[in-house]
Amino acid sequence: MLPMLIPILEALPLGRRGRFIEPFAGSLTVLLNVPLVPSVVCDKNAVLMNFYSALRSRGRAFVDSLEPLFAPSGNTREVFDHLRAEFNASTDPERRAQLFFYLNKHAFNGLYRENSKGIFNVPFGRFSFVSFARDELLHLAERLKSVTLAPAGDFEVLLDDAKAGDIVYCDPAYVPLSDTANFASYGADGFDFADQLRLAQAAVRAADRGATVVISNHDTELSRELYARAELHQFDIWRSISRAGATRGTAPELIATYSPKSGLAGVESFGSRMKASAASSKKPSKAKASP
Ligand SMILES: C[S@@+](CC[C@H](N)C(=O)[O-])C[C@H]1O[C@@H](n2cnc3c(N)ncnc32)[C@H](O)[C@@H]1O
Repeated sequence: MLPMLIPILEALPLGRRGRFIEPFAGSLTVLLNVPLVPSVVCDKNAVLMNFYSALRSRGRAFVDSLEPLFAPSGNTREVFDHLRAEFNASTDPERRAQLFFYLNKHAFNGLYRENSKGIFNVPFGRFSFVSFARDELLHLAERLKSVTLAPAGDFEVLLDDAKAGDIVYCDPAYVPLSDTANFASYGADGFDFADQLRLAQAAVRAADRGATVVISNHDTELSRELYARAELHQFDIWRSISRAGATRGTAPELIATYSPKSGLAGVESFGSRMKASAASSKKPSKAKASP
């Protein structure tokens, strides 16, 4: 198990009644490490959700169909460019799911990025070797059988559906570690300040209905303000990939836990302060913590 998962798993009051909900599914690392309870996952990336859907419905046959794509002959720029073009032209959900997995593992930095026309445009990753994780895929296929895949979309839909006893784990794009000058209009993955604020507000609403919501993020002045109504737990994690301004090394991380009935007041007032501050400046201003 990844060491960074330990504090997150410790923060989840699992074992109670209720569902486990993950609105920012990504690679489902947390879901794969929680006990088998009824679970619901979602991500706004429709291509990723289509991959999980194919893996769940076709299981071993789908995994078998992926393996030939990982022959050493597939690890060249020519094959990559050809399959990337096929992926962008294809409208067949199963073929798109196969090619998505190939591209995800062979693309630069394992990135998934589309241009404004919805075309996947990440270049070849030039890895000397790309392994095929057959056993992990089969394990995920098995786990997905007990998971509800919500339609791809925004996190707020699942958070607003959380009920008393449910446990929601949120892993949004990070708030910036330092310079927040452009954050009001643009954040990592297009996840900007308004989205971070919406998340904190939706977490409080869910807690008011009796759910537990756990959010992880960088430990910054901004995140401490955003999660003012939550119980905060700080820990350090090792980052090997530069992400949202973070460089290699340890980075302070925060876990915010909204226990049932956390109250909304703090988040709302912080939101108005940020909106007022953004409106008073032509260029989005540096986020300021309130006294
Ligand atoms: C930091 S990753 C999640 C990582 C995940 N915990 C894992 O184990 O890999 C953030 C994910 O949130 C998704 N995302 C971004 N904006 C979103 C939104 N508004 N609603 C739902 N998902 C979103 C991205 O597509 C990405 O997969």
